[in-house]
This record gives sequence, structure tokens and C-alpha cells, in this order.
Amino acid sequence: MRVAALLVAAGSGRRFGGETPKQFLTLAGRPVIRWAAEALAPADLLQPVGPAEPIFSALAGLDHLPVVPGGAERQDSVRLGLEALAPHAPDVVLVHDAARPVVPAGTIAALLRALGDAPGAIPALPVGDTLKRAEGGRIVGTVDRAGLFRAQTPQAFRFSLLLDLHRRAAGRAATDDAMLLEAAGRAVRLVAGSEANVKVTTPEDLARLEQALLGPLLPRVGTGFDVHAFAPGRRLLLCGIEIPYDQGLAGHSDADVGIHALCDAVYGALAEGDIGRHFPPSEAAWKDADSARFLIHAAGRVAARGGVLANVDVTLICERPKIAPYAPAMIARLAGLLGVAESRVSVKATTTERLGFAGRGEGIAAQAAVSVLLPA
Ligand code: CTP
Ligand code: MG
Repeated sequence: MRVAALLVAAGSGRRFGGETPKQFLTLAGRPVIRWAAEALAPADLLQPVGPAEPIFSALAGLDHLPVVPGGAERQDSVRLGLEALAPHAPDVVLVHDAARPVVPAGTIAALLRALGDAPGAIPALPVGDTLKRAEGGRIVGTVDRAGLFRAQTPQAFRFSLLLDLHRRAAGRAATDDAMLLEAAGRAVRLVAGSEANVKVTTPEDLARLEQALLGPLLPRVGTGFDVHAFAPGRRLLLCGIEIPYDQGLAGHSDADVGIHALCDAVYGALAEGDIGRHFPPSEAAWKDADSARFLIHAAGRVAARGGVLANVDVTLICERPKIAPYAPAMIARLAGLLGVAESRVSVKATTTERLGFAGRGEGIAAQAAVSVLLPA
């Protein structure tokens, strides 16, 4: 029996918020989507659906078919993935949300067993809470929870049936794949789901999963400070954003003083030296280097130590240019480079009341504080 796994990762994570979709954020050292892909290892084929570049780098080293772009709704993304799998003619397909990083061992085997006597099977949990129907913040009724279940993924189906139903359903909305079998009167079996199989929907979901996966963690704090002098004829890069200004900053790399202070804070929290130790200015390779690389490295060190970044806070110190209009873009960019939710990143600025080198407009200073949680 040939089993294909379809991993849908084309959503934008509207409820989660932020510029980087939740499935590409870091969870306990690895992107959410990578956890999801590794959970699908029992399958013979892996078909990812969504944006090519972030999927490709998140799944580096794993065997998978070429990434196909997704569609407007989840259902469209599934259909496009099924079409890409069709030439491989698998017997069974497991459709899984990239936003579900934890699939307990045994779930996939149980699903495949259940397909022995039904064309579809899904993991589900009985509803425990009392269910209320409400309108405008007021209860209008209680829904009997007896016989109600919460559907999870991966959902398993005979491949040719699901492909056929998706082709015929184009245009009619379904929020999961089992719905298409239900509508066609085909049997779908339930197997035991798990509370651990959380679909990341909000930043709180990610934080709770992280705690569950990492166990006890100790908080660590790091600080960083950096200064670069203004220099004519250079681009001005601050916290990964280019700012239109009549001069840039002097330096061996791109002189992004905000990222440099932030890197030093991360290395400091880990007690792993500073940016100069990891990227010596004496090495020609780092001349005019994009400082984004340094920050990706620093975040990678946190992951390698089994830790997580709790929050980062950067202060830019200069009289001009005005930073506030660029702060949201800087936050989005830093969060993307660090692989964390934007709610964990702060960028602010201050002047020094025209005092000192920053006050005289000779350069820009930056300081950063970082909190890292490391295994105890
Ligand atoms: N998905 C997809 N294509 C879409 C919409 C969703 O591949 N057009 C994927 C998501 O990437 C996710 C899974 O379907 O892995 C479940 O969807 P959901 O949790 O709703 O994620 P998003 O749609 O990204 O989030 P939101 O609804 O908050 O925007
Ligand atoms: Mg959605």
C-alpha cells in the first residue's frame, strides 16, 4: 500500500497575526511546519503545498516532492496538492495541516488500520465542555454535546475517492476533507485524537506547545550595545529595514547597528561571546555583509541550545532620522529573521536631547535586551 502525505501550508494565519505565517515560526528550535512534516514520516511520499521558499528551507534535508502553490481556501490548497500527487497514484493520502506540529505516535497507524473497512478515517476528540450558542455576547441556547467530536488532522482517505470528490466539489466550501465524504454518503471512521495535537491558531497556542515540548526552562537575560558613525554615500540600514536618508553608517558589514546590538544581546544571554567572535571583522567574507545573516545565526544558536526566545527589545538612539514610522516594519522583519511572533519583538527609539555624539548627529547608537529560556 502506497501512502502519500499532503501537507497544506498555504494559509496566511490571519487569526495569529504578523507578517510571517504561523507555520513558518520556530517552535522549540524547529519551524512548526517541520514538526508537522516529520510527524508524517510513515508516509512514502510527502507533498507540501504553499509558498516555495519558506517551505523549502524549513524542510531542508527531508525527502519531499516539489512544492506546489496553494489556493485561496484550504480546500483549494488540498485539491491542488491532490492533483500534484495524482501522477504518483498513491493508494492512500493523509491530509495534514502544517499548523499541527504534534501528531502522537500511533495516530497514523490507527488511521491506516481504520481504512480497512471505510474509505475515510480521522482523529477526533469528544467535546468535554458544555456548548453554548450566543448572539451579541448573550447566550441564546445550549447545544447538546452528546455525540459531538472535534475533528483533527491528519485525515486519511483512499486517494482516488478523495481526488474525485475534490474535483467535483470545486466551489462548494468544506472546512475539512471528511466533509466531502459525508456529503457523498461515504463512511468516515473516527480514531482517538489527542489534546497534544493542537492546531496553532493564536500566539498563546504556540507558547503552550513550546512549554509542553521543552519541559522546565530557566530564564536568561542578555544585553547588547553598539555604535556606528554616519558616513556619506552609504545606505542606511536599521533593524533590517532600509531607510531613505542622506547618509548611511560606516562599518565593515552593512553597519546595521540595531541588529548588531540585538545579536550581542542574544549571544550574551547564551554566554557565547559577541558578534565579533562569531563573525570576525578581520575576515573579508563579512565585508558589507547583510547583518540579517548574523541575526539568523544568533537565533540558530538559541535553537541549538534547545531554548526559545521569550522577547527582544531594541532601542535606537539618534536625533535623526525619525524611527517611529519604520518601527512596525522593523518589528516584522526582526520577528521573521528570529522566527518568533511579532508580539515578542519591540523596537523603539529615543534622542539624547542633542547631547553627546548621537545628539550632534555624528552617529547612531543601539541597545538591546533579550530574554531567552534555556533547558534547566
Ligand atoms: N491552509 C492552506 N491554504 C489556505 C488556507 C489554509 O493551505 N488557503 C492551511 C494552513 O496553512 C494550515 C491549515 O490549512 O496549515 C489549517 O488552516 P488554518 O489553521 O485556518 O490556518 P490559516 O488559514 O493560515 O489561519 P487563519 O484562518 O487564522 O487565517
Ligand atoms: Mg484558515
